[in-house]
Formats: sequence, structure tokens, C-alpha cells
Amino acid sequence: MPDEHEFDKVTALIKECGELMLSAHAVEKESGAIEIKAGTANFVTKYDKIIQNKLISGILQIFPEALFLAEEKENSAALADSPLLFIIDPIDGTTNFIHDMKCSVISVGVYKKGNPFFGIVYNPYFDEMFTAEAGRGAYLNGERISVSLRSFPEALVSFGTAPYYRDTYADGVFSIAKKVFMKCADLRRSGSAAYDICSVACGRTDAYFEMLLSPWDFAAGRIILAEAGGKCTDFDGKTLKCSEPSSFLCSNSLIHTHLISTIKE
Ligand code: IPD
Ligand code: CA
Ligand code: CA
Repeated sequence: MPDEHEFDKVTALIKECGELMLSAHAVEKESGAIEIKAGTANFVTKYDKIIQNKLISGILQIFPEALFLAEEKENSAALADSPLLFIIDPIDGTTNFIHDMKCSVISVGVYKKGNPFFGIVYNPYFDEMFTAEAGRGAYLNGERISVSLRSFPEALVSFGTAPYYRDTYADGVFSIAKKVFMKCADLRRSGSAAYDICSVACGRTDAYFEMLLSPWDFAAGRIILAEAGGKCTDFDGKTLKCSEPSSFLCSNSLIHTHLISTIKE
């Protein structure tokens, strides 16, 4: 476990980064604030970079031995089994952020030799701090959370469109979405994978899937979800690795097998 003091320092640092997100208005109109990345409609803003740098330098003051896998820097897969690895998405939901949709989060997942240590996802717009330490339950602003008990026909299922890789995945995304839609209560698309996972963890939604996610999208969320009683695998039901991109499915556990068989139909 991180000691309480260390954990509080990391959450305070993440809150400060949330203030930076809230201070941004009309990012789209700020000259030079947005750059294009590889893929389709994939952007990075100056805020993603400022927040990532602030997180890394702040975390190093708390955990000088920490190593980092973070979206807006060069990364090496060799980091996966590091003694203390912080996996960071400085802004998950950058397109929402640019459009001022107010649905973007900061995601920090921490692993010790590949094993979950703790995870934090912060939505500054609602001041919602999702946290979990391995073996100690999941919390939203300090209150214990758990997944829903809903069945597949009652389920609200969110999905991601793997937007940057649509040339490869668009047909698959929408064919799976249709199959799931025909069996559940309704579908949702938030634009932030980490937020989607936390929405399952606290029982607002019942499942979430996306054909391709990167480790920083799910590293924190999967720790929070597991501690809330949920299940998270790839589309074949296999355990996810914290260092590799993968298909991603998470649920309240109860409907997981049914979802996998629906995806495979
Ligand atoms: C993206 C968001 C989006 C999901 C994409 C992710 P980013 O992360 O989580 O909801 O559909 O697959 O890459 O680029 O905004 O950090
Ligand atoms: Ca992301
Ligand atoms: Ca991001």
C-alpha cells in the first residue's frame, strides 16, 4: 500500500492538474494550442503536455524511484515489469476537451512489477475523484463504490469508437455495437475511456467496450473496476497486460460472458 500521506499527496497533485483543465476556455481558438498526431482526428493540446509534465515532476518528488509510461512521451515496453510504474493519461478525452464538452479526466494507474498498486481517475468538471488501492476497495470522493447487479437486457453499455484507427476498426466497432444494442437497454458514447470504466465501477453503467485501447486509457480504471467487483478482459476473455494496446471489455462481472459471446457472434 502507499502510505496515506503519499496517496493524499498524489490526489492533491491530480486536483491541481484538474484546476489547469478548468482554467482552459476555448482551447480551439488559442493560437498554437493544438497539434495533430498520427491517425485520424487525433490531437494533443498544450494542456495535455503541461499536465503530463506537472504530474511526472510532482510524482518524482513523492516517489523518487518512479518510472513512467505516459501518452505524450516516447515509451518503452520494457518498462512493464518495473518495480514502480506510473501509467499516465494527462487528459483522457482530449477531443471532448478541445470542444469544451466537459467530459475529460486525468488518469493515473500505478503498478509494482506489473501488479496493481493503486489507481486514480479525476473528473474536474464534477469534482469526482475515483480511487482504489489493491485489496482495499474502490471509492468515489471517499465513499465506497461497487458495480451494478443489472442483467444484460437492463444494461446501459458504453462503447468507444477507436476513433484514431477508424480505417481498420470502423466496420467491427459498429457491427459489435449493433449486436450489443439489440440485447441491452441502450448504448452510450462518452468520449473518455477512463471515465467509461469508472462509470461501470460505480454502477451508473453496466459495461463498456472498445476495439483498441492503449495502456494509459485503462491502467487506472481497471484497478478501480476490479476493486469495485467488476471484470475487465480483452474481447477473448484474456487478462490485459498493463504495457500493451488491446481490445477492451469491462462489465459488472455478471454479464461478462454473455457480452463476449455476443461480440463473437
Ligand atoms: C481516447 C478517449 C476515447 C477513446 C479513444 C481514446 P484520448 O483517449 O478515451 O474515448 O475512444 O480510444 O484514445 O486520446 O482522448 O486520451
Ligand atoms: Ca486516452
Ligand atoms: Ca490523452
